[in-house]
Amino acid sequence: MLSIIDKGKNSHDLTKDEIISLLGCSTYDSALFDAANCVREKYLGNEVHLRGLIEFSNICKQDCLYCGLRKDNQNVKRYRLDPETIIDFATKAKSYGYKTLVLQSGEDPFYTTDLICDLVTKLKKLDFAITLSIGEKTFEEYKAYREAGADRYLLRIETTDKSLYEKLDPNMSFDNRLRCLKDLKALGYELGTGSLIGLPGQTLESLADDILFFKAMDADMIGVGPFIPNPDTPLQNEAGGTFNLALKVMAITRLLMPDINIPATTAMETLDKNGRIIALQSGANVVMPNVTEGEYRKLYQLYPGKICTGDTPAHCRGCITGKITSIGREISQDYGGRKR
Ligand code: SAM
Ligand code: SF4
Ligand code: FES
Repeated sequence: MLSIIDKGKNSHDLTKDEIISLLGCSTYDSALFDAANCVREKYLGNEVHLRGLIEFSNICKQDCLYCGLRKDNQNVKRYRLDPETIIDFATKAKSYGYKTLVLQSGEDPFYTTDLICDLVTKLKKLDFAITLSIGEKTFEEYKAYREAGADRYLLRIETTDKSLYEKLDPNMSFDNRLRCLKDLKALGYELGTGSLIGLPGQTLESLADDILFFKAMDADMIGVGPFIPNPDTPLQNEAGGTFNLALKVMAITRLLMPDINIPATTAMETLDKNGRIIALQSGANVVMPNVTEGEYRKLYQLYPGKICTGDTPAHCRGCITGKITSIGREISQDYGGRKR
């Protein structure tokens, strides 16, 4: 097992069988996390990039079985922010020192192509790198956002097991998800994708396929997080993913993709109170604090126990800075694009 970890650390290449054996054995986890930390340090240094996350609408036309925002969930108070409010939150985020914004929402048809483009144009004038995470769109829509100035796009593949994907995402097609990722890449976006770890029916073999898929896509950012069952969804009684397995998928991804951006995800910290710091010491180099102001933070309820919902963006900024500097890392002052 140690020779597999060494091979990954030095050659950034592992076979599917090697990945499965790493995922299936827990004896050498700390060696794996240390190796991923070394690769991160060698290629990316000590800087941590902060992205300010604005969750601007919890309205969604999709019905993903795992997600609290799914359209059939009646137990959620819905909201959508108007463009002026989003710009106000962005301006506040600027004052806290953020250089990159991630605009995330359900698939909400209210936000037409023109509206998103207009918003992106205005936010670019505030001198942000802009990441969109607003779901599946047509090539023409992605092209229009890009021309308006959007720099990056996050769309998790969720799982590369096509039949599992289509079972968990009713009325959505795996092939269309792939088409979206390919279109985004062709349009010159920095591409972010990733998976949910611990979905019902997901195997270690399928997680190994996910990791090899990330590498084959040459994604610029990979975000993985544990699946956390939401009591208001059909998957309420499932076991969910563990922090440790999500961390292992993340660390192996770092071995294979030494120079990409990898966030320490919010879902990881939801399962372990020190989750983001542990992730930053196991291969991650990005954190995405929530910069949505007010009551909306509580309403973007993907899963229970989500961190920071009762805190303010100003508080979170101070909190995360303290945590990052306490482990000898520093906050990056640039836009944090992938540096090859
Ligand atoms: N609607 C867009 C989409 O699906 O790509 C963006 C927003 S969606 C809420 C963002 C991510 O939340 C999804 O890609 C999914 O991986 C994650 N998510 C949803 N439900 C979750 C759960 N129960 N546990 C952990 N993550 C979850
Ligand atoms: Fe909608 Fe995204 Fe949640 Fe699916 S994961 S229900 S597309 S917000
Ligand atoms: Fe939000 Fe620590 S980052 S309270």
